[in-house]
Amino acid sequence: MWKDWIRPWVRPLPQWSTIAVAPPQRVVSATLHWDGHSVDVTTDHTVASLKPLSIATSIDAGQRPTLEYRDSATGRPLGFLHLAKAAGVATNGAALAVYHVASGEHRCLDWPRRPWNTWLQNRLMRKTPSSHHGLMQPAAVQQLMIAYLCPRPVVLVSVATAGHCNIFPMDLIGPLGASGLYSLALRSTNVSAHVMREVRQVVLSNVPATMKAQVYQLSQHHKTPLTDWAALPFPVRPSKAFGIPAVSDALRIQELTIVDSQELGSHIFFLCHVETDQPAVDGAQLHHTPGFHQAYRRRRHMPFTEI
Ligand SMILES: Cc1cc2nc3c(=O)[nH]c(=O)nc-3n(C[C@H](O)[C@H](O)[C@H](O)COP(=O)(O)O)c2cc1C
Repeated sequence: MWKDWIRPWVRPLPQWSTIAVAPPQRVVSATLHWDGHSVDVTTDHTVASLKPLSIATSIDAGQRPTLEYRDSATGRPLGFLHLAKAAGVATNGAALAVYHVASGEHRCLDWPRRPWNTWLQNRLMRKTPSSHHGLMQPAAVQQLMIAYLCPRPVVLVSVATAGHCNIFPMDLIGPLGASGLYSLALRSTNVSAHVMREVRQVVLSNVPATMKAQVYQLSQHHKTPLTDWAALPFPVRPSKAFGIPAVSDALRIQELTIVDSQELGSHIFFLCHVETDQPAVDGAQLHHTPGFHQAYRRRRHMPFTEI
């Protein structure tokens, strides 16, 4: 159909695809390269802040490393982020490195569709401001999309004290490999951020992909606390050690103690120890990846299951 042919030239790909992936994702690997060294950081890097766009890892990869994402099945490079060392973070004996993203490029689309799609997406971002776009320039959003080439799992984070309870979605989360730490990057405007800094306890529920609608509905709780656990559109049950309500149908529940938190630009970067880890149940978890990654996989007849 002529419409299928013309569509990519007039309409940009969606920035994000919400997909169902059985964790842990292994479809894309991430490697840090610097001064003749290469280290696999698939489970040892995370987005630590959106403005400035920053990546944290437990690997000290020198001043200007490159983070490379590759399709694990074919070995093809999918994208690169060129990094510049910003700071070192020392926490309870573990050392982490924080890098600013200096530039990036992806290889998911061929020329000339790649620059043309970027141009269409950037034009749309300028025309339709959203919370992301208020915070970040279009070029930084393009770099953020590259950081999501390793599909990022979505969790629901629960917080509970005598005077405050809440549950909201996060995907700027993940383990930092050898350091043994688990990180959460939360916008400093989040209504529970100060409570988390005080009580130092949170519970993560890994949500099944089928819960997408409920998860997105809960993004309102980044701004407004929850008033009643019973009002949630799904059942919850107390976590094992902290007794904080977690999603009953979660694929996995982890209780985290916050050992440190640092303000890194727009976000508070929480560093945690995993206190308990309820064994995972098999199932597909909600993940995010960029639309150009899904287009790459579709062209190769191996699309992610889109939700
Ligand atoms: C699935 C999902 C994941 C999210 N993950 C994060 C996160 O990791 N960190 C964060 O600060 N906000 C996260 N958010 C919140 C939004 O990006 C946004 O900050 C929030 O809705 C508040 O809007 P604001 O930017 O107008 O303050 C997430 C929202 C959704 C729906």
